Amino acid sequence: MHLEVFASADEAAARVVEMLVNRLTTKPTTVLGLPTGATPLPVYKLLIQAIDRRQCTLGQATIFNLDEYFGVGPDDPRSYAHYMRAALFDHVNHRSDRINIPNGLAEDPRAESSRYEAAISAAGGIDLMLLGLGRNGHIGFNEPGSPAMSRTRLVALTDNTLSANARYFRPDAPAPRSAITMGIATILSARQIVLLVTGQSKAEALRQTLEDPVSMQMPSSALQLHNDVVVVADSGAASKLSVADGSRKGTAGSRERAQPEAMGVRSL
Ligand code: PGA
Repeated sequence: MHLEVFASADEAAARVVEMLVNRLTTKPTTVLGLPTGATPLPVYKLLIQAIDRRQCTLGQATIFNLDEYFGVGPDDPRSYAHYMRAALFDHVNHRSDRINIPNGLAEDPRAESSRYEAAISAAGGIDLMLLGLGRNGHIGFNEPGSPAMSRTRLVALTDNTLSANARYFRPDAPAPRSAITMGIATILSARQIVLLVTGQSKAEALRQTLEDPVSMQMPSSALQLHNDVVVVADSGAASKLSVADGSRKGTAGSRERAQPEAMGVRSL
C-alpha cells in the first residue's frame, strides 16, 4: 500500500483528481469504480473543472458505481443514481450506456447482483476503484462482518451507518435500510484501488484499516490484501497513524509532481 498525506481535504481531493486525469489521459476507455458520500464531492467538483479545461474526458470511460440504496428508483433524490447525476454526470459529456449503477428497484436483487457482476466482467474489470471509508470500516456498503469473498449482493445497513448517513435524509423520506453493493471480492478485483479518507472523524477507522491485522470486523482492512492500493488522506484522517509519523520527509515511494504536494508519502 502507498500512503500519501495532505494538509487539507481539498489537496487530497486534488491528488485523486490528478490520478484520475492521468488514467483517463493514458487510457480514455478506463473502467472506473466510483463512490458516493460526502468524501468524493470535492473530487467530482475538481474533475468537472479538469474536464471543462479539456485535461481529460469521461466520454469513452465506463463507470460502475459501488452501491445503490434498495427500494428507491433513479429519480428518487435519495438514490445514488440521483447523487451521481447531481455531483458529476449532469455536468460532463458521458455516454449514459457506459454508466452502471445497481437497480435499486430490482424485483430480484440476487439476479440484479449477478447481472452487475457480469457487466463488470464484460467491461474487462475495473481499472481504478475509488473508495471512501465508513467510520465503522465499511467500503461500499460492506458492513463489519461482511465475507471477504463477497460479491455484489443485497445487504442490510447497520445502525451505525444509518445514523452516520441520517444527515443526508429528511424525516418525510427516510433512509433505506438496505442496499445493493459490490462485495469485498468485487472491490479487490479492481486493478488499482484509491482510498480517499478525509476528516478527523475517520482517523480511528483509517488507523485500524492500515495498522491492525486484517479482520472482517473492519472490512476496509481487506485492502491490505491488494497489491496496488493508494491511500490518500488529509492530516485529520491521518492523525492517528503511527506509519505517517516517519513519513514527513516524503521519501519512500515519493513521486515527482508539481501539485498538490504531500506532507508525507510512505509505502506500507
Ligand atoms: P462519507 O461516507 O464520505 O459520507 O463520510 C463514506 C462512506 O461511508 O463510505
